[in-house]
Formats: sequence, C-alpha cells, structure tokens
Amino acid sequence: MQAAIAQAAEILRAGGIVAFPTETVYGLGADATNSSAVQKIFMAKERPAWDPLIVHVSDEAMLRRVARFVPERAQPLMEAFWPGPLTMLLEKSDAVASEVTAGLMRVGVRMPKHPVAQALIRTAGLPLAAPSANRFGRISPTTADHVLQDLDGRIDAVIDAGPCPLGVESTVLDVCESPMVLYRPGAVTAEQIAALAGEVRVYRPEVDETAETSSLIAGSASPGPGVASPGLEVRHYAPRAKLLLADSGDGDEGWRIRLRMLDLLHETVERGQRAGLMLPQGWEFAPEDLPLEKRIFHWGSWESAESLAKGLFAGLRYLDSLGVDVIICPLPNHAGLGAALQDRLRKAAQS
Ligand code: TXA
Ligand code: MG
Repeated sequence: MQAAIAQAAEILRAGGIVAFPTETVYGLGADATNSSAVQKIFMAKERPAWDPLIVHVSDEAMLRRVARFVPERAQPLMEAFWPGPLTMLLEKSDAVASEVTAGLMRVGVRMPKHPVAQALIRTAGLPLAAPSANRFGRISPTTADHVLQDLDGRIDAVIDAGPCPLGVESTVLDVCESPMVLYRPGAVTAEQIAALAGEVRVYRPEVDETAETSSLIAGSASPGPGVASPGLEVRHYAPRAKLLLADSGDGDEGWRIRLRMLDLLHETVERGQRAGLMLPQGWEFAPEDLPLEKRIFHWGSWESAESLAKGLFAGLRYLDSLGVDVIICPLPNHAGLGAALQDRLRKAAQS
C-alpha cells in the first residue's frame, strides 16, 4: 500500500488525477492549487464548471493554506469531528485555484479520517480537491470497482483499499453564516453540530431557492448567481433504472413499508417491467407473495442506519448492473444518519 500511495502522490504532484478511498466514498483528487490539474477532474467527471469541489487537508497547517480565516465557532467542530465526515465552508485563500470553488468566495474543506486518504495527502504535501469519483449526477462510488465502472480510461490511477466504511458523503456546513447552514446531511448530524456550536439552519431547496433553480437537472445550464451550494440543486445519485421509494407516509412502521414494497413490485411486474428490490435483512417475503421476475439486493439491517448507509450505493449500482427497469427501495426513517439516507434516496428518485 505504501508503494501505491507514493506512486499516487507522485502523479498528483505532477498535475495528474487519482481516485482514492475516504471514510465516506471514493474521491477523485487533484492538486487544489493547480488550475490545470483541477480542470482535469471536471473533464473526467463531465462535471459542469459551476459545481464547486471540496478540498481535503491532512493537518491544521494545510488548512491555513487553503482558508484565509477560520471562525471561532468552527473550533469545537474541528476538535470533535476532524478527522472525519464534516465539510466546512470557509473563506477561501488565494492559494486555492478559482476552478475549485467555481468562483465562489468560500471553499469547502474537510480532513478525512481514512488512513489511506491521510497518507496520500501527507505524502503529496498538497491540499487535494476531490469530488466523489463518479460521473456527474451518478451514484457515488464506495469501491475501486465502482470508480472504474464510471472513470476507467479517464483517470491516471485509483488506489484500491476495499469498501468505504461509512458509505455516504460528508455533511456540508457553512460555518460563516449566522446561523450556520447545513447544505448536505451526512454522518455528522445537525443535532450534534448544534450541541457544540450553536444554531443550525437546515437548507431546504424548495424554500430557499426559486422553483426554477430547484428543477434543474444534471447537465443543464448553470443555476446562476445566488445559489449558495450549486451542486445540491440537481438530480443526483441516479441509477439508470427508475427508483421508486416505499414510504409508509406515517412514521417508519416496517410492516406498512413492506406492504407498499409488495404493491410497487406487483404494479411493476404487471406493467411488464423488470424490478429490483433493496431488501433489508430479515425482510424476506413469502415466495407466494413474490412474482418470479425480480432481483434482490440484500441490504443492511433496517434497525441500523449505519449498516444501511454502507450498502446504499453498492446496492443501487448492483441492481442497475442487472439491467432492471425499476428499483424499489424502502425509505428509512429520518433520525440521525437516516436524514442523509433520505436525502440521497429522494434525490436519486427525482426524474
Ligand atoms: O464525503 C465527501 O464529501 C466526498 C469525499 C470524496 O470527500 N466528496 C464529495 O464531493 O461528496 P462532491 O463534489 O461529490 O460533493 C460536494 C458537494 C457538492 O454538492 C458541492 O456543490 C458542495 O458540496 N460544495 C463544495 N464546495 C462548495 C462551496 N464552496 N460552496 C458551496 N457548496 C459547495
Ligand atoms: Mg458527488
């Protein structure tokens, strides 16, 4: 692994792009201070230039290179959650290439916890701009294989360190606003942040932005000025198959959601379409209830949002790879990490 990291660091120093594991998902990294290196990320991902990238640092000295100023309320958050899955928007320094922030004044920064990510940043001695290593708008990768499915032939290397331990992307928090604004829910929750650093407002696109910007789809024109976190406006995490969410509409009563899944399954089969199921452990249906023509991904335990998070993207990718027309997925409840699962699933289900 050490040799692979040294080689990858060399590529990064020479202005190349390398995919690497973090505790959340695989990222596609480039030297955040090198414009032409950063542009390669946008090309490989087919990512529009208006969608800013997160910068990954290995220590506080590197943080000071990329952020001009760190507000006091960020301190307890850094102490509690760094290294880890919390991205903070901070005032950008001139060292960061303007492409990284898509011209915005603030840069998203996080210190990843994965030992391979840490070693890579340290060895390269560079802050790494790194979005998730998928084609734009598609499902985030949680294995090196997923990365190659989307980006083989477009990147210089990928470091394979097995599946990512968390499986959903970091929490994105603007610590420069009062109250702070949470743009993307992740493993670090709004409640945890509020307990340490004061009031947090959870961003809601349907309230905070015009209908026009929130209906943007991947590949369309820029959301334009005034959109605080542009990447959150678009359809994301999208499988090729149509994603149908089984929601009880009434808390998270498992049995209601299971019945809803069966309804959706039968409707799909009646339409002559092939269905795939994201099925939590212990949720097996009686064979007589199930039409033959279905595919199943054995998901995590319904009681553990952590185990569901770990398998979420892998399951969507797996069912997609089988060529199903429709993926039917139960919608987990909203507590803790469940907010992040709901966010990703609802965005993936938009069409
Ligand atoms: O866990 C993660 O955050 C992973 C790993 C690789 O670190 N990275 C990741 O990056 O998910 P990406 O680019 O796929 O998602 C970052 C999101 C985008 O929606 C982007 O618009 C938003 O964060 N973002 C990044 N920088 C921003 C900035 N300066 N201002 C507002 N939003 C920003
Ligand atoms: Mg992404």
